[in-house]
Amino acid sequence: MEANAEVRSRSTAAGSPSVVGVLTLAPHVNAYESDIEQTLITQQDIQAKLAELGERISHDYQGRDLLLVGVLKGAFVMMADLARYIRLPLEFDFMAVSSYGAATQTSGVVRILKDLDHDIEGRNVLIVEDIVDSGLTLSYLLKNLRTRRPASLEVCALMQKLDVQQVPLDIKYKAFEIPPVFVVGYGLDYGERFRNLPFVGTLKPEVYRDAVT
Ligand code: IMP
Ligand code: MG
Repeated sequence: MEANAEVRSRSTAAGSPSVVGVLTLAPHVNAYESDIEQTLITQQDIQAKLAELGERISHDYQGRDLLLVGVLKGAFVMMADLARYIRLPLEFDFMAVSSYGAATQTSGVVRILKDLDHDIEGRNVLIVEDIVDSGLTLSYLLKNLRTRRPASLEVCALMQKLDVQQVPLDIKYKAFEIPPVFVVGYGLDYGERFRNLPFVGTLKPEVYRDAVT
């Protein structure tokens, strides 16, 4: 069977993440990003899932002060959309941490490149992360932020890769579980490109082959 002929994106019960499969690439994509091989999660599926998570978050944080902490750069696209599905007053802050650089393998070393602008003691903090791969970045962030004594600390992640986590993590709000493949789009990059794609997809193998390492 052709690799991209299979469609097995399915929604699960509210509250549980959708497991996604491979979707045929929409024809318009080639027009501006010819390096994309397949669409893994469509724009429509992302928006529907974020709307659902926004509802849950609105319900869970009703009457409480909420601070969204975005992990730069990857989470900025998701953060903008998710926040508009949350029907509560809230505030934003951002952290930037080093992850892969230009490569596709995690080093396991996490460095804070930009810290929060404000104190989080006593605040209800919701970390917004694009993708959890090994889990090392998130695990480090949770440990670090916990020492600052927030009233609560939870995680909202767009994607979690299956079977590759090196540390156990409790991700309360998770949109999608994906196979352990490298993906780009909707905030995620390869060599800083592809963040502006409105969907999540995989790259053609020659993109990696041609890359200068
Ligand atoms: P972890 O520490 O291995 O969980 O990696 C977390 C970070 O690596 C994410 O926040 C992303 O910035 C980056 N990352 C992991 N997997 C991917 C991917 O498939 N595409 C793009 N970036 C990724
Ligand atoms: Mg990230």
